[in-house]
Amino acid sequence: MHFDDILTRSPLMEAVLRSAHLIAQTDASVLITGESGTGKELVAHAMHATSPRSKRPFIAVNCAALPETLAESLLFGHRKGAFTGADNSQSGLIGAAEGGTLFLDEIGELPLNLQAKLLRFLESGEVLPLGESQPKRMDVRVFAATHRDLYAMAGQGTFRKDLFYRLNIIPVELPPLRDRREDVDLLLKHFLQQFASQHKQPAATLSREASAHLLRYGWTGNVRELRNLCERLSILLAGREIGFHNLPADIRSPAKRVVSTNPFNLPEDGVNLDELERDLLNQALERTQNNKTHAAKLLGISRDALNYRLKKQAMA
Ligand SMILES: Nc1ncnc2c1ncn2[C@@H]1O[C@H](COP(=O)(O)OP(=O)(O)OP(=O)(O)O)[C@@H](O)[C@H]1O
Ligand SMILES: [Mg+2]
Repeated sequence: MHFDDILTRSPLMEAVLRSAHLIAQTDASVLITGESGTGKELVAHAMHATSPRSKRPFIAVNCAALPETLAESLLFGHRKGAFTGADNSQSGLIGAAEGGTLFLDEIGELPLNLQAKLLRFLESGEVLPLGESQPKRMDVRVFAATHRDLYAMAGQGTFRKDLFYRLNIIPVELPPLRDRREDVDLLLKHFLQQFASQHKQPAATLSREASAHLLRYGWTGNVRELRNLCERLSILLAGREIGFHNLPADIRSPAKRVVSTNPFNLPEDGVNLDELERDLLNQALERTQNNKTHAAKLLGISRDALNYRLKKQAMA
């Protein structure tokens, strides 16, 4: 995995990759952030591969998947007999990365007590395996990645502030795909081609309508979502043209955003909806000098609907 494998023609992304390339040459810890599917893992691999440590191990750890009771010994190691079942001494994942790079993916999920131990390691270069009394020096560079907002988590006390500042000295922030639309077309063509040759089938091509839609689409799952779509279409439509109607329904019309655009907030103790409706109807009629067509427009309903509601209110 190399920087050359990271496809982009976006100046925004190119600038991020340029600085990632520079940082890779140093020994500094790096925090890679970005929404899910933006390529954080890809960038971590590429940074290691161009770093002076490239010939040494690259150990990737998903902090979200570390079993709680074993996490500490898995990361920092343990001495034989440190706990029931510890039949042998283990150097842990940090030990396994000696001379190379430890990639802590989903760092936001690391338990607070281990965050403290990790900080100590980053500051001193030493680890204290479970059951040992003497700390051990380790030559390991740390990359961390997260799709979470660690700054906000630090504010809420679920991520250690001191560790956040220690990691965030050199952040690498990957932009979401919707902020680099230049890449959509490039990646679509690349993945359609790649899956076609992988499945030994002719590549599917995109119609103008499908292409135009995908260019405007939100891509909340970023490159991973785009890649998965290409795999699906490559299989279903090998050698054919992909029309708008061939796109999956959730991509053709993404679910309406759940976030309310309503400027009103429901007060703590609730409202009287009938009263609120009557008041809004009156305000709309007043403002439009009783012009029902205009009043209906202000309320976002049809003239008939306005009449119906006025009648209903009059009867109430
Ligand atoms: N610019 C790119 N060029 C080519 N492939 C890419 C690019 N960006 C991402 N990918 C591919 O998209 C997929 C998702 O990328 P990756 O796993 O690195 O994302 P991530 O940011 O680590 O996501 P998550 O937060 O969900 O773990 C991978 O298959 C990766 O190879
Ligand atoms: Mg990842």
